[in-house]
Amino acid sequence: MAIVAKTTVSLIKADIGGWPGHSTVHPELMKIASQELEKAVKSDLIMDFHVTHVGDDLELIMTHTKGEGNERIHKLAWDTFIKGAKKAKEMKLYGAGQDLLADAFSGNIKGMGPGCAEFEFTERPSEPVVAFMMDKTEPGAFNLPIYRMFADPFNTPGLVIDPAAHAGFIFEIWDIQEDKAVFLNAPEETYDILALIGAKSRYVIKRVFPKEGGKLPTDEAVAVVSTDKLFHIAGKYVGKDDPVALVRAQSGLPALGEILEPFAFPHLVSGWMRGSHNGPLMPVGIKDARCTRFDGPPRVGALGFQVANAMLGMPSDLFDDPAYEPARKKAGEIADYMRRHGPFEPHRLPMEDMEYTTIPEILKNLDSRFKKV
Ligand code: 13P
Ligand code: 13P
Ligand code: MG
Ligand code: MG
Repeated sequence: MAIVAKTTVSLIKADIGGWPGHSTVHPELMKIASQELEKAVKSDLIMDFHVTHVGDDLELIMTHTKGEGNERIHKLAWDTFIKGAKKAKEMKLYGAGQDLLADAFSGNIKGMGPGCAEFEFTERPSEPVVAFMMDKTEPGAFNLPIYRMFADPFNTPGLVIDPAAHAGFIFEIWDIQEDKAVFLNAPEETYDILALIGAKSRYVIKRVFPKEGGKLPTDEAVAVVSTDKLFHIAGKYVGKDDPVALVRAQSGLPALGEILEPFAFPHLVSGWMRGSHNGPLMPVGIKDARCTRFDGPPRVGALGFQVANAMLGMPSDLFDDPAYEPARKKAGEIADYMRRHGPFEPHRLPMEDMEYTTIPEILKNLDSRFKKV
């Protein structure tokens, strides 16, 4: 096995057609994706891969040595989605090609519809990496769990008791409305971080970096989240921006269990039915990653890998575990409670978020009926 200088993990995903409706991905599409990525391994473009799905999103998890934003890797993902979407159209799957918003590949998958989380790092002697994949929600759904992993000592005792994690971490936060970014330090600027990321439809955690003086290079991200906004690309509602994230664990970083712990609380996220409702995020094994009830509730799946010499190795399905049963039950109870509000806020999203749905068309039709009071 070759020893590599730096390893890149790329998680690129798209909804290229649902089966049925927006619930899950047809096995035929997963097969096409696996075949395409297998060819890419044979031609030495990628080292290893795993194809999966959460809800109706097809997820390509790949390792290689070509760095972030590599044109050939992104084109591989794009071409794979195009090929799958062709089959999805033939099969009349729902919303076939939904997330493929560009006419032709333009060098980088960003801004073309698919979501992308990727990072390049120097492999440690042991390199646990977790791929988180959400359906029926938006990138800001990662704010609470990522914050708790890397900044909340009640979640992550390693911040208190592990000298290698004690200095804290740096958060790169994006304002996705104004396309600006800011770097803030935890724990020193915790209140500023929370002032921003509590507004999860606007400010999203993009990456987390280690601090100076620790064991890890400060220019290599330890967590990364996809922040692609479909509405901003398409200019109309085409589905939610179902996000993905990659997180490295252990040895100066939160332990695997500290990374998973935030998901024991099914927090409220926006998305769910028609991308227009608040609901609980339910952690599930991949076998249960099907969005059925009211097109949800929003789900998160997590696959763990021990990356070695740029090989992914076998996935471990981390939420396929009875320890998350109470969280799933709680999510079910919250789903019942929220559903009883029907079309009322705060089950339905506030008006400023409904702008990104189909409701503006309804309101426009009423415009002329309004009289001054
Ligand atoms: P082990 O002693 O099993 O390696 O666990 C250490 C640890 O950090 C658990 O969170
Ligand atoms: P997706 O964004 O997962 O395609 O869901 C869209 C939708 O409208 C669900 O009700
Ligand atoms: Mg869909
Ligand atoms: Mg989806």
